[in-house]
Amino acid sequence: MKSMRYSLAAALLALGATANAADSPATLKSAFQDYFMMGVALNQRQFTEQDTNGAALVKLQFNSVSPENVMKWQSLHPRLGPDGYNFGPADRYVEFGEKNGMFIVGHTLVWHSQTPRWVFEGEGTNAITREVVLQRMRDHILTVVGRYKGRIKAWDVVNEALNEDGSLRPSPWYRAIGEDYIAKAFEYAHEADPDAELRYNDYSIENEPKRNGVIALVKKLQAQNVPISGLGSQTHANLTQPSAELLDAALTAFAGLRLPISITELDVNASQRGQRNQSADVSQNAQAVGGDVVDAANQKLADQYASLFRVFLKHHRNIKLVTFWGLTDRDSWRRFGTPLLFDGAWKPKPAFDAVIAEAMKAGDAK
Ligand code: XIL
Repeated sequence: MKSMRYSLAAALLALGATANAADSPATLKSAFQDYFMMGVALNQRQFTEQDTNGAALVKLQFNSVSPENVMKWQSLHPRLGPDGYNFGPADRYVEFGEKNGMFIVGHTLVWHSQTPRWVFEGEGTNAITREVVLQRMRDHILTVVGRYKGRIKAWDVVNEALNEDGSLRPSPWYRAIGEDYIAKAFEYAHEADPDAELRYNDYSIENEPKRNGVIALVKKLQAQNVPISGLGSQTHANLTQPSAELLDAALTAFAGLRLPISITELDVNASQRGQRNQSADVSQNAQAVGGDVVDAANQKLADQYASLFRVFLKHHRNIKLVTFWGLTDRDSWRRFGTPLLFDGAWKPKPAFDAVIAEAMKAGDAK
């Protein structure tokens, strides 16, 4: 009898909990659960939970994480030689994602930025050769991807290999190895973890010349049976770019590649300077941030986020994940542009409500 009464109480409690869940404010991950995962790039204070408010907000709102900096070459592998790796922070990052049942992304293996100079230099008086740089790339990828095999589900294997006109960027990788550095990076990553999603990731790929460059690159890799299995579009936006039309055209074109698309680094720069210079090239970030935000920034930010999400939702069948490049404005690499959904006090901004509202509208339209 006692146990029956107990189970009745438990059942009522469960019912109540369900009703409460329906009334409680929507979260990003719940609002978009029928469409795509929602991710966020984490800094070290968040994934170590030193930033307790930040960590709590991440757990509440998101079901995927990306490492903002701790998996870049200079963080993971600062020195040459067998003792040159430093896995501490990256290990903590992966543990945080696992503990919270999240889809864990790795960022990034082969990039021109945040990669130490020694990678491209000869030892002592020896001149550097293609073979030595390829060998270093292979060791790095096998070591890093191998260490997190089966745990990191998607890797940004090659980041930002293209110029704005769609041609190959003359990066240190390109200069040391030649254009097949891209294919090699994917092959090594596949060797290390055959089940991981292997993405090519870049910014401003909505713009037609660069869009065509990405499509040509991916098609060429596919024709060579290179194991590329995802496309990452960073989507560092400003208040007007990409427009809904441009984004729609780009996502339509990318669908032809038959790869899952991830929006990998979403933010919307509301600084005055950011309206003139849209480039997400890290070397130009000083020109894109700083100075004041535009008038009525909060409202314009909400409008642009609504516009972007309307298009993402239209293409939800091809989009598997939308990741914000940072949690709050205070954490952002473009903090002066107040580019995110949460302010420096972890409070949702009007842009947050605008994004949730788009999910609700899409649900009603079904
Ligand atoms: C940025 C980080 O957010 C900054 O903290 C760091 O100082 C520079 O890099 N494209 C990318 C990201 O692929 O790795 C960059 O992240 C932003 C642009």
